[in-house]
Amino acid sequence: MDGLDLLVRNTSEVLTVEGTHRERAEDALTPRPGAVVGVRGGRIAYVGPEAGLPAGAVGPDTEVVDALGGFVGPGFVDPHTHLVFAGERSAEFDLRNQGATYLELAKAGGGIAGTVRATRAASEDELVRLALPRAKRLLEQGVTTAEVKSGYGLNLETELKMLRAVRRLGTRTPLELVPTLLCAHAVPEEYRGNREAYVRLCIEEILPAVAKEDLARFCDVFVEDSAFTVDEARRILSAAKSLGMTPRLHADQLTACGASELAAELDAATADHLEQVTDAGLKALADANVTAVLVPTSTLFLRMRPYAPGRRIRDAGLNIALGTNVNPGSAMSENTALALGLACLENGLTAAEAYWGATRGAAVSLGMQRHGRLSEGDPADLVVFGCASYRHLPYHLGVAHARVVVKAGRIV
Ligand code: NIG
Repeated sequence: MDGLDLLVRNTSEVLTVEGTHRERAEDALTPRPGAVVGVRGGRIAYVGPEAGLPAGAVGPDTEVVDALGGFVGPGFVDPHTHLVFAGERSAEFDLRNQGATYLELAKAGGGIAGTVRATRAASEDELVRLALPRAKRLLEQGVTTAEVKSGYGLNLETELKMLRAVRRLGTRTPLELVPTLLCAHAVPEEYRGNREAYVRLCIEEILPAVAKEDLARFCDVFVEDSAFTVDEARRILSAAKSLGMTPRLHADQLTACGASELAAELDAATADHLEQVTDAGLKALADANVTAVLVPTSTLFLRMRPYAPGRRIRDAGLNIALGTNVNPGSAMSENTALALGLACLENGLTAAEAYWGATRGAAVSLGMQRHGRLSEGDPADLVVFGCASYRHLPYHLGVAHARVVVKAGRIV
């Protein structure tokens, strides 16, 4: 064997996460007690007992990382973020804590519309500069891949500016970014009297322009009484599909409005939020094999009840993905550790199910078949944690335990 670039040794266990969501999550994590991990050329070259390393594997150029008895797992994959935006909404946070609701603030011209005003006013450079520290905070949590949505432009120029900023951001951070067009995040203020004209703008101008520059892999719609109807979402997402973008939906967050059923009908990759999902919606999602993306940080942050019924979702046989939903309005938090804790405390998942959701489940939701796991030949995106078991992550609530983060074979 040629010399490894990197060897991680002295682990409690390595979670290769090679199973499927149809297995018991503890088994799907496929723990290898005491294994070492070898990396070469940015890929996983070896996972197994140290004694099994072929001769010559560790040479003078091999960087050796002592895991100090911590466990090693794949880099987290965050399947739902709004990482790129300008402005902030701390005053609204204060108002909500005194009783104002998210919808009341939105109706009064705040909420998403406030962030849209700030984002339209910012340059592409500024959007990249503002997003860089957020990307760094995700990396510090052990996140090595993140989906990023547009949706604070709500016009052709700014939706393109946001997605171009995502592309540039991806060249400035080790975090791997997966772009999603969310032009249907809210009806912009200037179209409030004529929402049909905005739906047409999305379909006839924004979607084709984004497709032409190949700026987004997915297309998302916020389906909600206060945002877009099921029929409007169907038109936008069908157009997106015909341009090669796969649907993801903000579904059944504030009201049960048929969004899950639509996600199933459209063969969407994901239905995200699901706080209000009905049994019929859940069955439709399960039958269509749509991944449920849980974002409990926003349920907490909006002081909403109920949390998404994670236990029922999991028992219905759905793949679960878990994200931070970092955004300025409903979840100003890049804290994956907190999301893991809430997934257990409030969504009712086991620690193994939550960990699956933040790794392999999320990667599957993004169609990244070799991410979120550590099989030989996979990208060497891995985290050495300062604790012996994944169970400590939700248990030690909100505390990041990532000690060494490796992206594509490099320590970042
Ligand atoms: O996923 N629900 C809609 N979109 C975001 C919130 C965006 C905002 O308030 O700025 C979410 O929670």
